[in-house]
Amino acid sequence: MLGRMQIGYLVIEGSSLAQWRDFATGAIGLPGPLDNADGSQGYQLDDRAQRLIVTEGPADDVAAIGFELADEAALAELRQRLAAAGVAVAEGDAALAKSRRVQRLIHFADPGGLRLEAALGLQPAAKPYASDVVPGGFKTANGFGHAVLLSHDVPTAERFYCEVLGFRPTERLSITFAGHPLNGVFLHCNPRHHSIALFAVPAPRRLHHFMLEARDQRDVARAQAKAMKAKVPQTLSLGQHPAPDGTFSFYAVTPSGFDYEIGAGGNTIEPEGWQELKLTRMSDWGHERPQAAE
Ligand SMILES: [Fe+2]
Repeated sequence: MLGRMQIGYLVIEGSSLAQWRDFATGAIGLPGPLDNADGSQGYQLDDRAQRLIVTEGPADDVAAIGFELADEAALAELRQRLAAAGVAVAEGDAALAKSRRVQRLIHFADPGGLRLEAALGLQPAAKPYASDVVPGGFKTANGFGHAVLLSHDVPTAERFYCEVLGFRPTERLSITFAGHPLNGVFLHCNPRHHSIALFAVPAPRRLHHFMLEARDQRDVARAQAKAMKAKVPQTLSLGQHPAPDGTFSFYAVTPSGFDYEIGAGGNTIEPEGWQELKLTRMSDWGHERPQAAE
């Protein structure tokens, strides 16, 4: 399955659709949103109708990660792996497929209870992507971007993502960050350095941040300037993750309280034969917390 799967879309449950709309169309400059039949709103990142979906609710957290599979055979293989692992799978009904704007989908849960969806056929966008904040658009050949999840039990979660879903570890993290030990693992399912990362943080929230990868580094700086102008709280200043990732990015806070990262210039990896690396620092330079930078 490796190489035949990517994150197709991310579903956020946010307590205010209006705030998310202001944020997504303002600070990130995304077109839209599309109003879906289930009340959710979908934002366009590329030539697909929607990749960031916000549904109204109190959680202010990730509601689902939607994996896009290459074809029916990949979906059948995933079903088989889930069945072999004893994971309950449900078929998404027509109404859900319509709101997700996919041809069809199944859904199931990871060991922490996070809803995962696996879909075929993301609907094409009605209009070309256009943005005044990220005019160069986003790199989505290897999927949406990435999601960093907070986990109470990383080993169990890692086993599930790797043994059942076919992810593999790119880099393992063991550092002191902001005075606290931080352990985690970055997982790939295609040449993107990581589509999912699992951080050992026993927080009530599941999502630490999501990352969107701009094509043009200038758009990262433009998006940061726009966020600052819109008074979006900044979490980490512009900085660069170490090789082999190499992403240049900043982090700031979404209306739901978790972070978003806009990056560019990340390197892809060769999944075939990849040997897991040890990550000993988060950044080569920058990525300073605002209070530390003062
Ligand atoms: Fe990230």
